[in-house]
Formats: sequence, structure tokens, C-alpha cells
Amino acid sequence: MKKLQLRIITAMFAGLFLGLFVFTSCEGPAGPAGPAGPAGADGTNGTNGINGIDGINGTDGSDGTDGVDGNITCLECHGAYAKNVIAAQFARSQHSSGAIAVEYAGGRASCAQCHSHEGYLEFALTGEVAEDISNPSAWECSTCHDLHTTFDATDYAFRLGADVELIDGSGVTVEGGSNNTCINCHQARRDRASYDVATDETYTRTFTGADFDVYSTTTAIGPNGSVTINATNDTVVVVFDVPAATHAYISSTHAGPHHGPQGNLWAGVGGTLAGTPYSSHSGGCVSCHMGPDSDHSFMPLEENCVACHASKEPEMDAIADRIHAVGEALETIHAVHYSDEDGTFHPLYASLTTAQFDAWWNFIYVLEDRSNSAHNPSYIKQLINQAETALGI
Ligand code: HEC
Ligand code: HEC
Ligand code: HEC
Ligand code: HEC
Ligand code: HEC
Ligand code: HEC
Repeated sequence: MKKLQLRIITAMFAGLFLGLFVFTSCEGPAGPAGPAGPAGADGTNGTNGINGIDGINGTDGSDGTDGVDGNITCLECHGAYAKNVIAAQFARSQHSSGAIAVEYAGGRASCAQCHSHEGYLEFALTGEVAEDISNPSAWECSTCHDLHTTFDATDYAFRLGADVELIDGSGVTVEGGSNNTCINCHQARRDRASYDVATDETYTRTFTGADFDVYSTTTAIGPNGSVTINATNDTVVVVFDVPAATHAYISSTHAGPHHGPQGNLWAGVGGTLAGTPYSSHSGGCVSCHMGPDSDHSFMPLEENCVACHASKEPEMDAIADRIHAVGEALETIHAVHYSDEDGTFHPLYASLTTAQFDAWWNFIYVLEDRSNSAHNPSYIKQLINQAETALGI
């Protein structure tokens, strides 16, 4: 590829140089008209889309033949727009500030493939991040983009543009075109089945501090669980009983699908119900978040919806209300806790019946997805229906 570019560039310079030479050497004193010169040499054929350089006119000779057009031109993507507008848009995206990437998860080997530039590059090259990264940084152009492979009209020079096998244990491979780049990172990571227990289990946990109040009244302990309060030192010991046949266990306060399960839901997988593969709703991440002009702020602008329908804000607000109501119902059974600090729900340790656990799982999925159904309206509605039915809403 490098060689090809070099050759293009060499050809362009050679042409320019020849042009200069002919023009400067033509400037002698005016003499009698000479005989007609020979026709100029044909232009060089365009390689992958660069117009051939026109033949240089001989004195009164005819023009050289134009080079053959390629099917695209480099400047469609490599103009001033890319340099200025795209860079300014990208500066507004969280990807380029990387608040979480740099400060929190970007350096850890198990997180870095999605949380830092360095981690994503290492993952792209080797398929893993072998060890912690000492100096992680935020996204750059060259996080997502690399070098061209075909130079055709859809070759956006992606680093990881191939179809994505989801890492949620579903075995599903998403064939998402340009969306593949997003789905490498925007996926759930965990699957529902990994929270089932193979044999009956009990888990004993001690809670203190702010957790004392929360777990002193917990009811989500399974049929033979127990709550033992030691008020003198503000400690509560909870035994969670998890019978394999009927229950599942919320095993941490960040259990469930990882933040950013958008790729899974778009593909119609991940919830406790089977969905439709590849939602037919719009072209995907890129069409809603980048629009026709490759907007690199990645904001899902309304102007990207109107080609198909008017604003769906009322429908999405209604979905937001239903998600909130499911969260409140889960709070009453001690499966989640609402934090005034960040204004959202967080998982609690709990032993739940399978139907309740499914409701909790589907709830965390649609909550973390943050699209209020836009990512896959029919599938997301089914997941909310399941939760409402299981919780008696
Ligand atoms: C469909 C859009 C598109 C077209 C058409 C296109 N490019 Fe690119 N090209 C990109 C993107 C996106 C990148 C990566 C981001 C960047 O460097 O701007 C890139 C990167 C490159 C790079 C690597 C830059 C670097 O710093 O590593 C070269 C060289 C390049 N393109 C040359 C060309 C040439 C020559 C043509 C025409 C034959 C061409 N491109 C046509 C989109 C395009
Ligand atoms: C497969 C990719 C992937 C991996 C691996 C991954 N994350 Fe994430 N994570 C994401 C994405 C994508 C987001 C952004 C989601 C969004 O904005 O909706 C995110 C968001 C987060 C957030 C922010 C939540 C918020 O919005 O406040 C935290 C915290 C986080 N991840 C922690 C971690 C930690 C810790 C690890 C490693 C143990 C990890 N992540 C591994 C993809 C990943
Ligand atoms: C988070 C991933 C990501 C990052 C970071 C990123 N891009 Fe892109 N870029 C994309 C995707 C996806 C497309 C293809 C959009 C499409 O299919 O229409 C694209 C398309 C482009 C194009 C083609 C535009 C066109 O006219 O079709 C250019 C040029 C480009 N990017 C340059 C850049 C530059 C310059 C930067 C840094 C300032 C950058 N990109 C950062 C994902 C990214
Ligand atoms: C290398 C992994 C990675 C890739 C590739 C990636 N994202 Fe992200 N994205 C993240 C993480 C992590 C966050 C949270 C960033 C933070 O807050 O630090 C995020 C945040 C976001 C946000 C939050 C709002 C904002 O201001 O940006 C949107 C929207 C988003 N991504 C959409 C996309 C789309 C669309 C694509 C594909 C064109 C994409 N992402 C590609 C990992 C990725
Ligand atoms: C049909 C259009 C559409 C498609 C397709 C789509 N999105 Fe979205 N996305 C939205 C809308 C609209 C929102 C914001 C909803 C709101 O704010 O109420 C959103 C929200 C998000 C957010 C949360 C942003 C934030 O700041 O809260 C992320 C991250 C995201 N989408 C990533 C993706 C990824 C990755 C894909 C592809 C797998 C994708 N989206 C596909 C329309 C879409
Ligand atoms: C390629 C066409 C297309 C694009 C683009 C598109 N949609 Fe849709 N969308 C549809 C169709 C078709 C339906 C189902 C029929 C209907 O409800 O209008 C739908 C339905 C929806 C629904 C479900 C409405 C309900 O009744 O509950 C929401 C929400 C939605 N779209 C949001 C969005 C948002 C937000 C965007 C832009 C960011 C967007 N759509 C872009 C085609 C599209």
C-alpha cells in the first residue's frame, strides 16, 4: 500500500516538474512560428481514482488524452472538511475527552480493549490486552481508523471493521458494516446464564457503613436465608440462599450487562427473550449517531430520524417512565437501590426467583442502553413487558 501511494505521489511530482520545465524553457524571445508540435503524451491513468495528469501541449499540438477516472476520488474524504469540521466535531465527543477511559478503566488489562486508545490497538493487533497499561490515553482518529485496504467507496480505513462476535456468550456474530467499529466496544460483556448456579448455594456477606441500613431490611435472601443485625457495631450479616432450581443470585453491585450494551440490543440479543436478529430499525449506530455527513460528535440528532418519521420523543418519554416504574418495583423487592447522588438505580446483592431475576436483568439492560427504545423498539418493549408482568405492574 505504501508503495502504491509513493508511486502515485511520484507520478504527480514528475508531471508537475515536466510542466514547469516546458513552460520556463518556452520563454525565449519571440521568433517565427514553428511547425506544429507532436501531440502531447497521454495522461497517466488514474490509480484508484486520481485523474490522470493531462498531456502537456506541444506547441500547437493537441491535448493529451485524459486519464481514466477511478470510481472514487480521494478528496471526497480527504478534503478540508475532514481536517477541520470532523476534528472539531470529534473534540465534542466523550470519546476524545475519555473521562472514564483515562481515569478509571483505561489501564486495566481486563478493561483496556474498550477503555483506552492503547488497549484497543493492542487488542486489534493481538486479540487481547496482555497486561496493565501504565499510561492510557483517550481516543484519537487512529483509534478507530488505520490504513486503507481496498480504496473503494466504503473503505473507511477501519482498524477493526470486520464482523463482531459478541462476547456475551451468545455465540452471535453481528454483521454490521460500519457499525462493527462501534459494536467492538459497545456491548454487554456478560450473559444471563452466568448468574445461574449449578447446585444449591448459600453466600454469606457482611455489610457495614451506608450499607447497614440498606441490608438490615433486605427481603431478597431466598427461602432459607437470614439477616443477623449487630446494632452495637452497625454490622449486618446476610446469608443469601440460592436454590439452583428456582433462584439466581445478584453477585455484586455492578452485576448484570456492562454499561453500554447497545450493540447487543440493536442485534436483538441479550435479554431473557429471543429477539429478531439485526433490528430493521434504521441503518444502525452510524446512521443515527453520525448521519449522512459522518458527524464525529456521535450525537443521535433528530435530523437523522426525519427521513423516516417525525419525532418519537413522546413514545421514548413513555418508555422512560415505564423503565423508571420497573426500577421502583425492583427496589421494593431489594434488587436495586436508587441513588440520589447520580440519579439512577444500582444493583444490590440479592437472591431472587428466576422470574424476578429475569425482570432485573432485562431492566439493567434497557437502563444501561440509555436509548429509551430507539436502539430496537420492538425488542426493548418486549423486555419491559416481561419485567412488568414478573413484577405485577
Ligand atoms: C471513503 C472515504 C475515503 C476515501 C475515498 C479515501 N480515504 Fe484515505 N482515509 C480515510 C479515512 C477515514 C482515513 C483515516 C483517518 C485519517 O487519517 O484521516 C484515511 C487514511 C488515509 C491514509 C493514512 C494516513 C495516515 O496518517 O496514516 C492515507 C495515506 C490515505 N488515506 C490515502 C488515500 C488516498 C490516496 C485515497 C484515494 C485513492 C484515499 N485515501 C481515499 C477515508 C478515505
Ligand atoms: C467490551 C468492551 C468493554 C470492556 C471490556 C469494558 N468496558 Fe466499561 N464501558 C464500555 C462502554 C462501551 C462504555 C460506555 C457505555 C455508554 O456510554 O453507554 C463503558 C462504560 C463504563 C463505565 C461508565 C459507566 C457510567 O456511564 O458511569 C465504567 C465505570 C466502566 N465502563 C468500567 C469498566 C471496567 C472497570 C472494566 C474492566 C473490568 C470495563 N469497563 C470493561 C465497554 C467496555
Ligand atoms: C469512534 C470511532 C471513530 C473515531 C475516533 C474517528 N472516526 Fe472517522 N469514522 C468513523 C466511522 C464509523 C466512519 C464511517 C461513517 C460511515 O459509514 O458513513 C468514519 C468516517 C470518517 C471519514 C469519512 C468521511 C466521509 O466523508 O465519508 C473521515 C475522513 C474520517 N472518519 C476522519 C476521522 C478523523 C480525522 C478523526 C479524528 C479527528 C476520526 N475520523 C475519528 C469512526 C471514527
Ligand atoms: C474503543 C471502544 C469504543 C469504540 C470503538 C466506540 N466507542 Fe463509544 N464509547 C466508548 C466508551 C468507553 C464510552 C464512554 C467514554 C467515557 O465517558 O470515558 C463511549 C461513549 C459513547 C457515547 C456517549 C456520548 C458521547 O459524548 O460520545 C456515544 C453516543 C458513543 N460512545 C457512540 C459510539 C458510536 C456511534 C461508535 C461507532 C462509530 C462508538 N461509540 C465507538 C467506547 C467506544
Ligand atoms: C434509530 C436510531 C439509533 C440507532 C440505530 C442507534 N442509536 Fe444510539 N441512541 C439513539 C438515541 C435517539 C439515543 C438517545 C436517547 C435519549 O437521549 O433519550 C441514543 C443513545 C445512545 C447512547 C447513550 C448516549 C448518552 O449520552 O446517554 C449510546 C452510548 C449509544 N446510543 C450508542 C449506540 C450504538 C453503539 C449503536 C449501534 C449498536 C446505536 N447507538 C444505534 C439513536 C440510535
Ligand atoms: C430508515 C428509517 C428509520 C430511521 C432513520 C429511524 N427510524 Fe425510527 N422507526 C422506523 C420505523 C419504520 C418504525 C416503525 C413505525 C413507526 O413507529 O413509525 C420506527 C419506530 C421508531 C420508534 C418506536 C415508536 C413506538 O411506537 O414506540 C422509535 C422510538 C424510533 N423509531 C426512534 C427513532 C429515532 C430517535 C431515530 C433517529 C435518531 C429513528 N427512529 C430513525 C424507521 C426509522
